[in-house]
Amino acid sequence: MYILGIETSCDETAISVLEFSSKTKYKILSNVVSSQVAIHAPFGGVVPSLAAREHEKNLPVCFAQALKKAKVGIDKIGAIAITVGPGLSPALWRGVRFAQELSRSTKLPLVPVNHVEAHIYSAILNKKNPEVLFPAMALIVSGGHTQLVLIDEKKNMKIIGETRDDAAGEAFDKIAKILGLGYPGGPIVSRAAKKGKKDAIAFPRPMIHLKNFDFSFSGLKTSVLYTLQDLHKDKNELSQKEIADFCASAQEAIVEVLTVKTIKAMRHYGARTLLVGGGVSANTALQSSLKKSVKKELPGMRVFFPKKEFYTDNAAPIAYNAALHLRSVSAETIEANPNMRIAGKFYY
Ligand code: KG4
Ligand code: ZN
Repeated sequence: MYILGIETSCDETAISVLEFSSKTKYKILSNVVSSQVAIHAPFGGVVPSLAAREHEKNLPVCFAQALKKAKVGIDKIGAIAITVGPGLSPALWRGVRFAQELSRSTKLPLVPVNHVEAHIYSAILNKKNPEVLFPAMALIVSGGHTQLVLIDEKKNMKIIGETRDDAAGEAFDKIAKILGLGYPGGPIVSRAAKKGKKDAIAFPRPMIHLKNFDFSFSGLKTSVLYTLQDLHKDKNELSQKEIADFCASAQEAIVEVLTVKTIKAMRHYGARTLLVGGGVSANTALQSSLKKSVKKELPGMRVFFPKKEFYTDNAAPIAYNAALHLRSVSAETIEANPNMRIAGKFYY
């Protein structure tokens, strides 16, 4: 069966065609992503109305490209998977309307997908026979979300911890903005951090020792701002070395909090597998910290990070997520849900 996946929750217009036989037998025939980074960069963040306008323009183009690359006609598609939330309302609605019209004209079933849930599936997508042992823990770290999700033995998902303010990706973006380094901040900060000393500046590790599994990153942003103002008292511009140290130290604060809390949560719930997804899963410091800590503190447990092409937003995990359950809704009743929360089954 061929599934068409559509994703427009933030600033990427993405359409993918998946050929699906079973959870381990499938092929991503196309995965078209049109990024709007250049359009939002001058604003230092995503402007929802601009994102919606770009989705409107890009959707038909990505749709044609995705079918062409996959060499599959629309008549061969069996279902349309569409991200309905969480995300930016005007952006989500553009995708939902597009899927709705397509479903009306083709009579294809519409399968609504939760964007954050799809980030979890990204961790195992296109891996050679990934064996997920339950209970499992998922860490979602994106520009909009930072959540720990427990997937219990019956494969029920439950959010057991999340950020109370900024998301991890948002923290990276704000740190880059404060330093005047550009947007999106994650890749820029992590690149600069490679040449810096991670213990150069002692940034706070908010909530690290609390018993719960929640996070908070807004204090870090404030601390970064004050530290920079202090440094600026003596000189106007930071040297490359100082910027590198700054980035490495701020990154380390984020990485350490994420690692400590994830390990604590895995231990508490007896999780046997860790699935990491979302844009920040691209961060190599986070990858090595989590792998090292799991190896040392929870030997034998498995850790999955997405393949490179699935780190940030794309439609392949949307199509895959839908293919695993195919629970459709009617084109008349489907709605975008900007505040959608993870609940229900992990279909794997
Ligand atoms: O998952 P994603 O593409 O979009 C959302 O669903 O939000 O994540 C985007 C976020 C941005 O905040 C970006 O700065 C961050 O992921 N990001 C990174 C890296 N690459 C992307 N953060 C840290 N290190 C990276 N290498
Ligand atoms: Zn995302």
